[in-house]
Amino acid sequence: MKTSEPFPGVLRSRDRLFTRGLVQGSKTFAKALVRIQGTEFREWDPHRSKAAAAILRGIRNFPIRKASRILYLGISSGSTASFLSDIIGPDGVIYGVEISERSMRDLAPVAESRCNIVPILADARMPETYSWVEPVDVVYQDVATNDQSEIMIRNCEAFLPSGGYAMLAIKARSIDVTRPPKQIYKEERAKLSKAFKILDMVELDPYERDHAFFVMQRPG
Ligand SMILES: C[S@@+](CC[C@H](N)C(=O)[O-])C[C@H]1O[C@@H](n2cnc3c(N)ncnc32)[C@H](O)[C@@H]1O
Repeated sequence: MKTSEPFPGVLRSRDRLFTRGLVQGSKTFAKALVRIQGTEFREWDPHRSKAAAAILRGIRNFPIRKASRILYLGISSGSTASFLSDIIGPDGVIYGVEISERSMRDLAPVAESRCNIVPILADARMPETYSWVEPVDVVYQDVATNDQSEIMIRNCEAFLPSGGYAMLAIKARSIDVTRPPKQIYKEERAKLSKAFKILDMVELDPYERDHAFFVMQRPG
């Protein structure tokens, strides 16, 4: 298979994306397991992960690297986080905040099988309840609530140093079902640009309807 590496740790072959599996032989959340030049990779499904959809929609900044420290708000059962965990490898860490106890139960075995995911049962609206988390390189957020931008800003003020990156999947219909998504993206962008330098934004259709993905940087 002919591949390129659009971002460190992410392989692409036409419209297929792959990460090198941190846990060899595990197919959990992967569309398929494939061998590329003798190494096992997991196929990352853009219909099930907004980060993968953002890459295929042409995002130009994807600031997750080997050994990155990530605060992930709305980690759910760990589907997207498992691919980020592959990219950052054993020297990185994902602090995964999730409000639902049910999702936390599903996340537990995923975190146990990987050495770099720390589950945190908490409300991302209250960063003071997980203030023990260290400063991170990236805050990734996908909580799908009507106050997503405010949650992002509050967490970045607490955990993201100047120059750090913020990655946000906005679900227009969680903010207002009655208004056109493009209008909502514009309003959220205006709010976010008071706190961040906006590096890039892509809409995720047709992989995720009515979603946009922002990559931003905390100014110095
Ligand atoms: C769209 S799902 C996330 C999917 C996940 N990011 C993935 O790609 O694998 C949104 C998640 O955010 C969680 N959530 C919603 N509000 C939250 C809050 N205030 N604090 C923490 N988690 C929250 C939900 O319980 C749900 O699991």
